[in-house]
Amino acid sequence: MESRIEISEMLKRARSYEQKNVTEEMERQKPSFHACVPVGWLNDPNGFSVYQGKYHLFYQYHPYDKVWGPMHWGHSVSEDMVTWEQLPAVLAPDMDYDRAGCFSGSALEYKGKHILLYTGVSEKEENGEKNVRQVQCLAVGDGIDYQKIEGNPVITAELLPEGSSKEDFRDPKIWREGDTFYAVAGSRSRDGSGQIPVFVSKDLKEWKFLSILDQCRNEYGKMWECPDFFFLDQKAVLLVSPQDMQAEGLEFHCGNGTLCVIGTCGKEEYVMRREAVQSVDYGLDFYAPQTTVTPDGRRVMVAWLQSWDNHMVPEEFRWSGMMTIPRELHVKNGRLIQNPVRELEQYYGEKTEYKNVSVQEKCQLEGICGRQIDMTVEVRGQEYDKFKIYLAMNERFCSTVTYDRREGILTFDRKYSGDRRDRVHSRDMQAEEKEGKLKLRILMDKYSVEIFLNDGERAMTSLIYTEETASMIAFEARGKAEVSICKFNLIK
Ligand code: FRU
Repeated sequence: MESRIEISEMLKRARSYEQKNVTEEMERQKPSFHACVPVGWLNDPNGFSVYQGKYHLFYQYHPYDKVWGPMHWGHSVSEDMVTWEQLPAVLAPDMDYDRAGCFSGSALEYKGKHILLYTGVSEKEENGEKNVRQVQCLAVGDGIDYQKIEGNPVITAELLPEGSSKEDFRDPKIWREGDTFYAVAGSRSRDGSGQIPVFVSKDLKEWKFLSILDQCRNEYGKMWECPDFFFLDQKAVLLVSPQDMQAEGLEFHCGNGTLCVIGTCGKEEYVMRREAVQSVDYGLDFYAPQTTVTPDGRRVMVAWLQSWDNHMVPEEFRWSGMMTIPRELHVKNGRLIQNPVRELEQYYGEKTEYKNVSVQEKCQLEGICGRQIDMTVEVRGQEYDKFKIYLAMNERFCSTVTYDRREGILTFDRKYSGDRRDRVHSRDMQAEEKEGKLKLRILMDKYSVEIFLNDGERAMTSLIYTEETASMIAFEARGKAEVSICKFNLIK
């Protein structure tokens, strides 16, 4: 059946570019189990949703260069959130209201259609000044082609409380309850810091302002980007990505961070009553998480596996950007729990296991190596104060995960990973033993390291661009530690 959706010249150009420019060499470089850009630049995950039984994941996309540029939406699809197929790009900045970019947004399935709600950015001359405007727009599609609707934009800053910024108003996250649609967005309030307005609509086209769900009040960074809001395990959960954070203990680092607010929220007034606030992830490269619900009811989150200030990409690559492994979420004891989607287990290849090995000096264990692995390490004992795992190691390079038992700190360090730039290479997070052991699950997919502590109590996600042949793994203890290891190779 022929699609009646019109494709602009600008979008056609992007589609033809991505088709012609993805080489076998690039495909070989890319991760196997993580969604990735076909060519060029990718940032935030957008429109993570289930449509006609498949997972769709869109992303902020600039096909023509491996740095940020005029934002398009790229598109990938998956049956299991682990193997992703690239589809043609879906949005290009081709309308007056989105000429300066189709920024982040979200999606849902409704009456057989795939609905995208995204931010249109434009630059307007007003009183001799160039002003940026951000508005929320709708595009409706069939899983391949998407039409921006005639009535765009559907939500403008005019709806916001007085004093709110018209420039910083973006990243709508839409959901439906019965016959009512809701959306939250990132916005900047009169005090210059973030706020999260909630909007409501019956028909997706006319929206009303409902409430301010939560606001920053200059406490957690400045502008709040990419909000997501949902109920999970009897709690209300707000995820946001603040800009301009200042470091705070082991919880928050400087710059762009991620925040998870856990609390309660009435479904009439949509105002968050905070009970706990934490970072979503404690690694070097994790931003703009977005969630969806699987057909069997799991709340799953995916994020951009990269950071703004520390962005890195090897010179020889023509692509930059991948997503984290999608993670199943729960709330337990006032904290966000996250673990890789269970579908990953379908890709388990050879298993190598060691029980209660005594580790002292730096040592390697036969069969424990690889760059595409899912490895769980359990560390026990009273006779050690530091335990270290060397990853992606060869004679020259390595990245390390170190547990300082006295301090209760886990450190990821990639300074010897081969990078040539003077950027942040190491990050700490709080870590404690549970029932007498420290449990680390480490997921590697060529250039990414995702660490899950104690069954998902904390996560730490970072990039390493160490040459792929560096695949040794070693263990070391100061003192003597009892270590159990279970490693699966991930294969396709
Ligand atoms: C977050 C962000 C969003 C915006 C997009 C632009 O990383 O700044 O707020 O929509 O990236 O690409």
